[in-house]
Amino acid sequence: MKIWIVKTPVEGANKGVAMIQQTLKDRHEQAVFGLATGGTPQTLYRLLSASQLDFSRCIAINLDEYVGLDQENPQSYAYYMNRYLFSKKPFQQTFIPNGMNRNATVETQRYDQILDRYPIDLQILGLGQNGHIGFNEPGTPFESTTHEVQLTESTIAANARFFAQSTDVPRSAYSMGIKSIMAAKQIVIMAYGKAKAAAVKKLVLGPVTTAVPASILQQHSNVTLIVDEAAADQIKKGKVEN
Ligand code: PGA
Repeated sequence: MKIWIVKTPVEGANKGVAMIQQTLKDRHEQAVFGLATGGTPQTLYRLLSASQLDFSRCIAINLDEYVGLDQENPQSYAYYMNRYLFSKKPFQQTFIPNGMNRNATVETQRYDQILDRYPIDLQILGLGQNGHIGFNEPGTPFESTTHEVQLTESTIAANARFFAQSTDVPRSAYSMGIKSIMAAKQIVIMAYGKAKAAAVKKLVLGPVTTAVPASILQQHSNVTLIVDEAAADQIKKGKVEN
């Protein structure tokens, strides 16, 4: 795993832009990008939106979506992606799980077929405070493909800031699985701020365990971790404390 410790999220986002630019070049402007939502990638999307990069022949596949929110709902990830990126940088095609499809079997199979059809060249990830990636909460099997997830209290609490009240946060989501994420050719995971420091330590130095979904990234051959000083605090000490 390559680790870049940056001074600010803007510096981290600039590194992300450079990696996306390289992927575009390698794939002759026809790349498949796996995209994430949340607070972490917002700066990256702002910089991409302001850039000269052309995604009009690219595919975007998002990690996850809340069950029960439609794309007009400002808290849905479909709305987020349109707001922060797709309205400014058109892609040839974009995919996100359909949170309004209450038939989880049908929806998750549909999404797995999309992932089979379009192997991801570069996957962008954020990191949950509990070590989740996508909405793959602790305990999710490493072999998982797209599935419906019951969100943990920790994730509901962390995401409540985007909602009027925590009871408004949906209780479940559709998420690409860990196996789906690991199938990406290249992965960039970003984490900023001291609230992420413990999860970063377990991601980098801890045992590979389903208790920390992100720890599986230690076994991927092309992962770059971008962290600021606060998020890197516990890995700089170079030891694992449980
Ligand atoms: P955040 O979430 O970017 O809003 O901190 C990351 C995550 O939960 O994956």
